Formats: sequence, structure tokens, C-alpha cells
Amino acid sequence: MAITVRPATSTDRSATAEVIYYAFHQLDERHDIPAYMNSMEDAEIVASHLYGIPKIYGFVAEDAGQVIGIGFLHDLGEVGMGISPLAVSPNAQARGAGQAILDCMIEYAGGASIRLLQDAFNNGTLALYSRYGFVVREQFTCVKGSPVASRTALTITRDTDPAGTAKLFHRNIMGFNRPSFPRRPLMAYRGLSLAGFIAPGTEYPYAAADNETTLIALIAEMATVMGAPITVAIPASHSQTLRWMLDRGGRVIRSMNLMVRGPYSHPSGAYLTSGSY
Ligand SMILES: CC(C)(COP(=O)(O)OP(=O)(O)OC[C@H]1O[C@@H](n2cnc3c(N)ncnc32)[C@H](O)[C@@H]1OP(=O)(O)O)[C@@H](O)C(=O)NCCC(=O)NCCS
Repeated sequence: MAITVRPATSTDRSATAEVIYYAFHQLDERHDIPAYMNSMEDAEIVASHLYGIPKIYGFVAEDAGQVIGIGFLHDLGEVGMGISPLAVSPNAQARGAGQAILDCMIEYAGGASIRLLQDAFNNGTLALYSRYGFVVREQFTCVKGSPVASRTALTITRDTDPAGTAKLFHRNIMGFNRPSFPRRPLMAYRGLSLAGFIAPGTEYPYAAADNETTLIALIAEMATVMGAPITVAIPASHSQTLRWMLDRGGRVIRSMNLMVRGPYSHPSGAYLTSGSY
């Protein structure tokens, strides 16, 4: 039978969870790395966050009436679209389903920039996305740790920000506005000038700062406020921040490539990513 792709509907939710669970489980097992999802319940939670949510568009690939693959496109506003996740059932892989879903998502995006996070260990997806015109724009090292705040000349506050200075600061460093922005990020001031901020993100806290020293002060403050280990996705080029986390007992848990198809503007300061943006 030929593989066909159609938009996902709410009745595809449990099939989506199954595809995600088995595809990622097999991938992690094959690479001998800790499971990204420990149970079908974990996959069902992931699937529940993909349906019935505005600006998330799902696609399923079918073969003989069976769902064998899924792909979800997220409208990220000014920055473009994001893919997460894309998965094909292990017994249906390497027969073109992944590419058929990608074709539909690219067509649906209609020329908008598309981005995704690709596991750096995964040779197959690096090849697949590269052939589709995605370019590695940054590598992120995810580090988990509990660094404590040290002395800083900066003043770090968590006041409300009615004038939207942090939002404007983000735009200046990152080159785009986020679809939503917290009312009370942690903000670092040098004298009266905003030098950076950090905020809880979808997967990881995100931050923008004038330099890595400010970024480090913000991570330390957030870890202290949380009182529990935090995981941050640090651009691989931020060697000072990476070393600082590692010197305080941080553990690298994952390495990911930001791959972008279409326009991309590189941040002009220090930053952390919340996921693909
Ligand atoms: C990634 C995934 C969705 C791809 O789906 P699929 O249906 O297996 O992929 P397709 O058959 O459409 O295409 C895969 C292509 O990559 C190519 N490829 C795979 N590994 C490769 C490698 N090491 N070097 C070069 N090309 C490679 C294949 O040759 C194939 O192209 P071809 O058909 O022209 O030969 C699927 O393998 C999967 O679910 N993996 C586990 C979850 C995952 O990694 N998801 C992506 C998260 S970003």
C-alpha cells in the first residue's frame, strides 16, 4: 500500500502516543542512552500537549489505514515554525514515511523559516534534515546542576516589568519577539541599565544577557531561587558558562543541534534557549 499523509485529528491522539513511545524508545536503546520516555504514560502526556492547542498543526502518515508516523508543526510567531516531534513506528521506518510527513509540513509552513532541535548523536536525522535544506546554526549542551549564587556587582531583582524592558532587551539580543513573555523574569541590572534576564521556558529556562558573566550570575540566581537542580541549554560557543557549570558539579545530559531551514538571525549577545527558540 502507498503511504499517505493527512492532518491529525483528536482521534489520532493515542496512536500518536504509541508512535512517539516506540520510535524514541527504540532510538534510545539503539544508542544506549537513558530513555527520553520511560513509559507509555509519558508518551501520552507528550501527546496530550499536542492536540487541541491553537497554533500546533499535526500530520499523520498512514499505511493501509494504520497510523505509522506523526509530525507536529508549531507556529512560533515572528521566529517562524518549529517541528516537534517527528516520529515513525520502528517497523515502518526507512520506507519514506518520515519524508512524506516532512514534505507536508514544509508545504504547510508556506516559506516560513522552520527550526527544530536535532539530537547530536543521531546520524540519521542529521542526514535527513540536511538533505531537506536545514542548516546547523548552533549546538546546545544541556547541563544539569545546582550552582550556587556567588558575589556579583550586578543587582538581580524579580520586580514586575510594566515597561516591558526585558521583552525589548530580548528582541535586541535575539532578533525576534517571543509569542509570550513572563511578567516577572529575573532581571540583572548594572547600575540603572538592564544587563540581562532569565525566565522559565517550555523545556529549559531561557535568557538573554549582554555577556557571559551576566548570564552566569542569572543562572546562579535562578538555581538558588529554585532550590533544586536546574537544566540549562547552553550554546556550545559559550565556553565560559559551560566551564562554570561543570566546575560546580554540573553534568552534561544531552547535546542538540539547532537546525534551521530558511532565514535565521544569530543572537548578538549571550543567551540560553528554551527549546528550539
Ligand atoms: C527520523 C524518522 C522520523 C525518519 O522517518 P523514516 O520514515 O524512517 O525516514 P524516511 O524513510 O522517510 O527517510 C530517511 C532518509 O534518511 C536517510 N538516512 C538515514 N540515515 C542516514 C545516514 N546515516 N546517512 C545518510 N542518510 C541517512 C535514509 O537513507 C533515508 O533517505 P532515502 O529514503 O532517500 O534513502 C524515524 O527514523 C524516527 O522516528 N526515528 C526515531 C525518532 C526521531 O529520531 N525523530 C526525530 C526527532 S528530531
